[in-house]
Amino acid sequence: MAKDKIFNLINKEERRQKNKIGLIPSENNISPEVAKALGSVLTNKYAEGYPGARYYEGNQVIDEIEIEAQDRLKKLFDVPFVNVQPYSGSPANSAIEFALLENGDTIMGLELASGGHLTHGHPRVTFSGRFFHSVQYGVGEDGRINFTRLRQLARQYKPKLIIAGNTAYPFELDFAQFAQIADEVGAYLLADISHVTGLIVAGVHPSPIPYAHVVMSTTHKTFRGPRGAFILVTDKGLEKDPKLPSKIRKAVFPALQGGPHNATTAAIAIAASEAMTPAYKKYGRQIKKNAAVLAESLQKQGLKLVGDGTQTHLMLVDYTPIAPGMGGLIARALDTAGIYANKNTVPGEQGSPVYPSGLRLGTPLVTTRGMGEREMKQIALWIKQVSEHTIEKYPLPTDLEQRKYFVERYYKEMLDDEFLRQTEKDVKALAKTFPLFAPQWRLQESET
Ligand SMILES: Cc1ncc(COP(=O)(O)O)c(C=O)c1O
Repeated sequence: MAKDKIFNLINKEERRQKNKIGLIPSENNISPEVAKALGSVLTNKYAEGYPGARYYEGNQVIDEIEIEAQDRLKKLFDVPFVNVQPYSGSPANSAIEFALLENGDTIMGLELASGGHLTHGHPRVTFSGRFFHSVQYGVGEDGRINFTRLRQLARQYKPKLIIAGNTAYPFELDFAQFAQIADEVGAYLLADISHVTGLIVAGVHPSPIPYAHVVMSTTHKTFRGPRGAFILVTDKGLEKDPKLPSKIRKAVFPALQGGPHNATTAAIAIAASEAMTPAYKKYGRQIKKNAAVLAESLQKQGLKLVGDGTQTHLMLVDYTPIAPGMGGLIARALDTAGIYANKNTVPGEQGSPVYPSGLRLGTPLVTTRGMGEREMKQIALWIKQVSEHTIEKYPLPTDLEQRKYFVERYYKEMLDDEFLRQTEKDVKALAKTFPLFAPQWRLQESET
């Protein structure tokens, strides 16, 4: 049988990942152990329901795996209830909203333009923004969440759910302040820690466990597991509403999902045991150190950062003073030069969502590969050089009609741009010396 073309494409993607430097803060690389569980026979089995209460026979082993995954996460976060079945972060947030709210109830989340997530009540185009009354809070001029305004809005609108979570917000989430406000107005507090789980486990970001009623995390970002999510109910959550676990179980299945992805469940269990090791704590600390060095080096190179820096794994370069609207062109030029990140709006955006002025950068993936502070300084230099080159050679037309035409033309021209080509060679020379998953983060024999 001829080899399926898809395997060639998988090899091609592997080469791309090895030869380039990934700075998308929501991406990470999995360990060979997590990969093994994902590619296992567990995919073959249907297991609608929960351990001990399945709709299909033959789930003796799947039950053991799901219980083990739950137990590991309960231990890791010291919580009484865990659900590991959500297919990913967005379905998990929808399940929590479905469990806690009625159609039309008021929810409050961080607006997208200030670094929030679509599932936190973004208006019109999302489930959370259309089926609930969404009141969004934002950041102040310092780029940090404006808690005075948040409190005013909460008192005025009396939300049933407040969401503390971030996708493109570089500062710590102050869960204690969120809890004060939520408790004052009787709201549930959901901490969506998708981005910062790894930092929390490593002890370099505040934990939401004493403050939130429900916690959600994707498992593929700093947690460094498969694409999936888990939902936790805390002791505080149980105290407020003893029915929370059963409401969440029913919302995940049967309300919104069918059979769980058992291979993912097993891979989550493995990622959880990796997260319990001292090596993982070191990993979390190194993500943050690398982010601090990258941020400082970018600033030394003269680039502006939203809020003047970072307290987490991510940062946003703000090109507004030198090249408003050029985040996308710079992101494309960087990708051509072997460094991939993503364009992003910045607070008070002067461009548009299509032509935003920011670039979002994060260090979880490069840290997994074993890169350290020296590499961060080199990467900052490349980012500065490529930014300057792009701004000079491929300026975004101010005329809106001409924009699309020029941007498409520039994208083609970039492919033959000598400076970008040379940078790509230099980036590759560095990147290929780092494995996708550094050996120091692997589980040791004694830990399995
Ligand atoms: C804070 C936050 N919540 C939820 C999600 C959604 O996760 P997924 O892409 O797995 O649906 C994301 C993903 O970017 C996120 O950043």
